Amino acid sequence: MTDPGRNRETEIFLKGIGGDCPAVPTGFDELERRAKQILSPRAWAYIAGGAGVGATMRANREAFDRRRIVPQMFRDVSHRDLSLSLFGTQLHSPVLLAPVGVLEMMHADADLAVARAARATGVPMILSSQASIPMERCARELGDSPRWYQLYWNTSNDVVASFVERAERCGCTAIVLTLDTTMFGWRTRDLDLGSLPFLFGRGIAQYTSDPVFRSLLQETLPAPAVRPRITLKTIAAILELRRHGAAAGLSLREMRRAVQRFSATFSRPSLAWSDLAFLRDVTKLPIILKGIQRADDARRALDHGVNGIVVSNHGGRQIDGAVGSLDAMPPIIAAVGGKMPILFDSGIRSGADVFKAMALGANAVLLGRPYAYGLAVAGETGVREVIRNVIAEFDLTVGLAGCTSLLDLTPDCLVG
Ligand code: GLV
Repeated sequence: MTDPGRNRETEIFLKGIGGDCPAVPTGFDELERRAKQILSPRAWAYIAGGAGVGATMRANREAFDRRRIVPQMFRDVSHRDLSLSLFGTQLHSPVLLAPVGVLEMMHADADLAVARAARATGVPMILSSQASIPMERCARELGDSPRWYQLYWNTSNDVVASFVERAERCGCTAIVLTLDTTMFGWRTRDLDLGSLPFLFGRGIAQYTSDPVFRSLLQETLPAPAVRPRITLKTIAAILELRRHGAAAGLSLREMRRAVQRFSATFSRPSLAWSDLAFLRDVTKLPIILKGIQRADDARRALDHGVNGIVVSNHGGRQIDGAVGSLDAMPPIIAAVGGKMPILFDSGIRSGADVFKAMALGANAVLLGRPYAYGLAVAGETGVREVIRNVIAEFDLTVGLAGCTSLLDLTPDCLVG
């Protein structure tokens, strides 16, 4: 990919002569505003919300805002190379699509639209454990395009092994194990609406399509502690469950059991370093730990022979009042000392943010809410445009800062 920044600008301005504007706003604030207009209150609460009063989401942004880029002049930046090799895959830019669950709440095409956009742009997609579409269907849409699998470790190791095996068959080249969500954080926007998408059968397609998970559906679980009132909304929820069940080839009864089993088994607070041995036994793929925020945990990851980490606080969705993810980076970079790749996640909104995270020492970054908003606003086209816009702005920022390759992005490109 040569000159992605100027190419994108040229395309937008030439189309503009004919009166066409981009399908999605090119800046994050307007993109977010448009997504909010389109989405239902429950969908908006789920995607935009953070834990508690949102202090961690704000800390994520403050950590970016505090750091400023200091450009160098007279540097001949006519050729810029944003490429890198990551876990054996050659990438044209250091941007990957973060795993985002329940994308059907953003747009009916959900993960399929994201897979198509990932393929069109060559950007790796990290398939979510909480996807709306089974990984096998996404894998078909992805063609030869790179993909990883994000794993939530539920209480059944057999289901975990089955997910990993399926991911391998789907051509995923790394397993991203999310550590920060052994329970769902206190997400006040969802709580205030009484809204948990999984109870409607949304975002559990990896489970309902899994042979091992399905084999557990005959086992009876204790009845839920609370029964909802029977209202029109309850009936609509049952109809939605029936629809999700039909898509998965399950009867309504089986689908209700699937939701119940998911709810009873998703959460695994007992997860500990000693569990890693199981995952190492079931796959030869690189294992990347997502959710690391401390230097001592990064050192433990190295000691346990994992292949990489993602410095992330889950987009501020898990703990309120946590450290901004970008602020967590410097001690982790120092502790790891270049011995494994470090990816950054949580708070990236633009190409300039990609520059800052890379200058602080990330090997690559994950883009989350921006592409989900692009999906909400304009489906596959929206995701494609968001990806291209972020990479375009990153490329321009690299050049305008006086850099020509990722190796030039060092902490002395920043102040603050
Ligand atoms: C799931 O990953 C969530 O953050 O809701």
